[in-house]
Amino acid sequence: MTDPILSTRDLTVRFGGHVAVDAVTCDFHAGELTAIVGPNGAGKTTYFNLISGQIPATGGSVSLRGRDIAGMSVSQRTRAGIGRAFQLTNLFPNLSVLENLRLVVQSKSGKGFNLFSMASRHSELTEAAEAVLARVRLLEQAGQTVSELSHGDQRKLEVALLIALDPAVYMFDEPTAGMSVDEAPVVLDLIAELKAQSDRTILLVEHKMDVIARLADRIIVLHNGALAADGDPATVMASDVVQEAYMGKELTDV
Ligand SMILES: Nc1ncnc2c1ncn2[C@@H]1O[C@H](COP(=O)(O)OP(=O)(O)OP(=O)(O)O)[C@@H](O)[C@H]1O
Ligand SMILES: [Mg+2]
Repeated sequence: MTDPILSTRDLTVRFGGHVAVDAVTCDFHAGELTAIVGPNGAGKTTYFNLISGQIPATGGSVSLRGRDIAGMSVSQRTRAGIGRAFQLTNLFPNLSVLENLRLVVQSKSGKGFNLFSMASRHSELTEAAEAVLARVRLLEQAGQTVSELSHGDQRKLEVALLIALDPAVYMFDEPTAGMSVDEAPVVLDLIAELKAQSDRTILLVEHKMDVIARLADRIIVLHNGALAADGDPATVMASDVVQEAYMGKELTDV
């Protein structure tokens, strides 16, 4: 097997006496979509926070392509290739959807400032941003400010920003939560496209079993912060830990 893109080794965080993530050791490979499941409070979001750098670990390590990234800030990790769905609080609320997205495309393209090419660059960036908006079906809302968007459209914009960034590791934490039945498939189709077309490493926290069954190459189960199961979907779904603890309970909740 190839070297993992992302690894956690004994990754742990304690909040007071509570161990929210408990010595989780796991490798994630290119081209693999891993669903992360477990009941409410199992530590899924906290595990993401440790990987993306939102909170410091109390033990263990996170490495990207074999390099320990513990010392890196959130933005350094983002630049290194760890793509957490954006918090919309990081955006410019009074700029339009298109302008916000163009800023991400621009930072990604990373070319030097050149006055003579600015005009053509501007239209190139606009086209690239519009193409991403079209993929998430937000083109009609391109001129709206972020604060004017509906909840579902804000979530779609988060996904659009991530796609524009195109990180090596995509991290989605319940990407369709709170979306309408019309909106959720747009986002899930995009995740399916990402998986099909690229060698990206995708981590997906998801409660909905039908979504997991459709998308996951592998499932890991967190329980009380610890890794309780890890394997291909059929094996993990049939495992005692999932059957006893979760089936018919949280995991089938919608
Ligand atoms: N900053 C924090 N300070 C103290 N406790 C925290 C903090 N963040 C999370 N926790 C606790 O850590 C545990 C894991 O929470 P986490 O949000 O990671 O669970 P989750 O698996 O994402 O749950 P859900 O399915 O509800 O989203 C919970 O007991 C939670 O209360
Ligand atoms: Mg969570």
